[in-house]
Amino acid sequence: MSKDLKVAFAGARRSSSFFKAFQSHPETQVVALCDTYEPTLTEMGKATGITQLYTVYEKMLDEAKPDIVVVATPMHYHVAHSMAALQRNIHVLSEVTAGVSIDECRWLVQACKRSSGIYMMAENYIYRKACVLVQAMVEAGLFGETYYAEGEYIHELSSMHHTATGGPTWRYYWQVGVNGSTYPTHSLGPCLQWIKERPARISCIGTGRWTDREHTMEDTVQLSCKTASEKLMRIRVDMLSKRPHSMTNYALQGTKGAFESARRPGEGNWVWLEDYCKDPNEWVPLEQFEAEFLPEMWRNPPPEALAAGHGGGDYFEVMDFVDAVQGRKAPTIGIHEAMDMTLPGLVSQESIRRGGEWLDVPDSRTW
Ligand SMILES: NC(=O)c1ccc[n+]([C@@H]2O[C@H](COP(=O)([O-])OP(=O)(O)OC[C@H]3O[C@@H](n4cnc5c(N)ncnc54)[C@H](O)[C@@H]3O)[C@@H](O)[C@H]2O)c1
Repeated sequence: MSKDLKVAFAGARRSSSFFKAFQSHPETQVVALCDTYEPTLTEMGKATGITQLYTVYEKMLDEAKPDIVVVATPMHYHVAHSMAALQRNIHVLSEVTAGVSIDECRWLVQACKRSSGIYMMAENYIYRKACVLVQAMVEAGLFGETYYAEGEYIHELSSMHHTATGGPTWRYYWQVGVNGSTYPTHSLGPCLQWIKERPARISCIGTGRWTDREHTMEDTVQLSCKTASEKLMRIRVDMLSKRPHSMTNYALQGTKGAFESARRPGEGNWVWLEDYCKDPNEWVPLEQFEAEFLPEMWRNPPPEALAAGHGGGDYFEVMDFVDAVQGRKAPTIGIHEAMDMTLPGLVSQESIRRGGEWLDVPDSRTW
């Protein structure tokens, strides 16, 4: 196999998390990098050995002619940068969320339809070991029919000012400067895989503003998602409250079992399964099911996977994406799955404004 697929990165900081995975892949090599902030661009160029460096994104696409571009720029650039690549038939791995307005999500869906490039959203939490194992157990029927899931992303963003310039970063405006569930994909991603139905309608409420009245977002925002068959997902996003981070809190309930993830460092993941636990009150460690149900990808992970960020997610999603680009499988989070994870948060902005009114989530498959 030769490293035929040329990869370009846009947005140096987050892209750097994917560098080792693409370099270690037998079919890809990173050839170009774009960042509008020159000190960051130069620094990453030096650290990685990438020599084709750009401050203008479209120039990079036209001159470096990559097969793949990783869109890791701030959230409000994701659609513009993904579309510019898709219009050139370049494959896109876009950071979360897919877009920041329903209108631009519609444009993105249209661009995907017209392009021969593949689009995948880089929702990495679904590749974490515990999430992958629970997903395999869901598929094997151990939880029965799954009907309730919850996910929480609690991540205080105290450093919303640019380290070099001192000015506010994009997070100040696009994550906590908007009221609603502005960053739900890390929680919704695994829940949607376990519940296996798209969110058809949502309701969003918040706590009010207590710790930091400067921001438009309420301290904790709760998004409830119902599927067409009445299954429920509860998503908590909190980027303002003062407390340690907890970005991987999950729970799942089915007709035959339940899963409760670790909530604090050092705690375990627990399951109760009707067919395995004799005692109705006996929780058992999730890890007990690894021998029988853990998918191959996590059995002997290479050192690059173990060293990668977000519990290995940043490595496995690159492997999965390249498989899709090479036509070996469909993208795990293609455009419609990306919309199922992104649109509920966008609709939530209107719901929270209307006091938690239930609103329909558009189905991008009909666009
Ligand atoms: N999946 C995850 O776990 C995860 C983790 C962190 C960030 N993210 C996502 O990654 C993206 C980037 O986040 P970050 O934390 O690296 O932000 P950041 O602000 O630290 O870095 C953004 C970089 O993009 C550059 N940039 C800004 N506008 C640009 C443009 N038009 N063209 C090229 N470069 C530009 C900036 O100079 C900066 O270096 C965001 O969308 C965020 O949501 C995802």
